[in-house]
Amino acid sequence: MAASLQFNFKPLFLTKSSTNHATKFATIRCSTSPPSKSYTITLLPGDGIGPEVISVAKNSLQLVASLEGIKFKFNEMPMGGAALDLTGVPLPEETLLAAKQSDAVLLGAIGGYKWDNNEKHLKPETGLLQLREGLKVFANLRPATVLPQLVDASTLKKEVAEGVDLMVVRELTGGIYFGKPRGFSTNENGEELGFNTEVYATHEIDRIARVAFETARKRRGKLCSVDKANVLEASMLWRKRVTLIASEYPDVELSHMYVDNAAMQLVRNPKQFDTIVTNNIFGDILSDEASMITGSIGMLPSASLGESGPGLFEPIHGSAPDIAGQDKANPLATVLSAAMLLKYGLGEEKAAQRIEAAVLDTLNRGFRTGDIHSAGLNLVGCKEMGEQVLKSIDSTVPAAV
Ligand code: IPM
Ligand code: MG
Repeated sequence: MAASLQFNFKPLFLTKSSTNHATKFATIRCSTSPPSKSYTITLLPGDGIGPEVISVAKNSLQLVASLEGIKFKFNEMPMGGAALDLTGVPLPEETLLAAKQSDAVLLGAIGGYKWDNNEKHLKPETGLLQLREGLKVFANLRPATVLPQLVDASTLKKEVAEGVDLMVVRELTGGIYFGKPRGFSTNENGEELGFNTEVYATHEIDRIARVAFETARKRRGKLCSVDKANVLEASMLWRKRVTLIASEYPDVELSHMYVDNAAMQLVRNPKQFDTIVTNNIFGDILSDEASMITGSIGMLPSASLGESGPGLFEPIHGSAPDIAGQDKANPLATVLSAAMLLKYGLGEEKAAQRIEAAVLDTLNRGFRTGDIHSAGLNLVGCKEMGEQVLKSIDSTVPAAV
């Protein structure tokens, strides 16, 4: 299975300067794949707009596969609320097993009003956390790039948003999301308590720091580590370890920033950032904020990678139950997640570039879903956007790798 070399090709970088490295490692990886280049992809459509956007991404993958001589076997499995309705749990064993046995996993979105009041172990979100934990995908890469075509969709002034190209490297399987003790209890007055634990061990910090330094090295060589080391012990250790690991990467310029300041700087002057590394919860929050600089959360993909095994690829947006089933969703974040799957999950750089180029071409031809629409452009639904992406894949020749 190709996935076992995932971290040998230290992937990670949606940037022009990375091409040579990515190609080199991709070659290593491809040489271990069977000659037919056949991959099994687990599709987890999930809830809300999930099935709509996954269907578009699947068609895009199928078309690039036919153009690049790749074969995909798609294995669609229930997950989230859909799985709860079907099996009573948000991540059925069969789904996790199928995911583990595949070469890469593509997820739509999970969650919805229907399951909002479920007990914690029966929430769709719990299934997603179990999936991340089960696949051991500790490194979550969330690029936020302002495309020139969409600069007007940003709520920030043009001169602030223009040219932003940053990557949030979020720790994904530790910290307060998983720390123990956690739970509910009562205090001595009989008052209800809810509590969680923010905890990091050195090995968890060291490995995400290395991914972040590698990422920064292949981008513009700047890494900003975001923490709350003025208050939290877990952040004090975080800062100490990141500073220590920095000695392995003398070519990368490291800075540290408190998370409250980082939240402010992201909207004040986002161009100061290249690569940001941060813990699970700060990464969750800052990546949503970063997405708004780009205009719409509907545009942003993500890749979650571990030391070995399949990666998990998903748009960073949620299931948007308010527009589910109405053919209004923007499928581009999922299509771009499929491109990340090809590039970082399978080492299929050229196929990934075909998809990225097609997305740009579709935008250049003026097609917009509601979330990124502005006057004079062609407002389309999810399906039509998908059709236009397919048209662009067919007609756009990507730049040579
Ligand atoms: C995300 C989401 C998830 C998270 C939820 C759905 C559990 O917000 O991927 O950013 O908090 O990690
Ligand atoms: Mg989030």
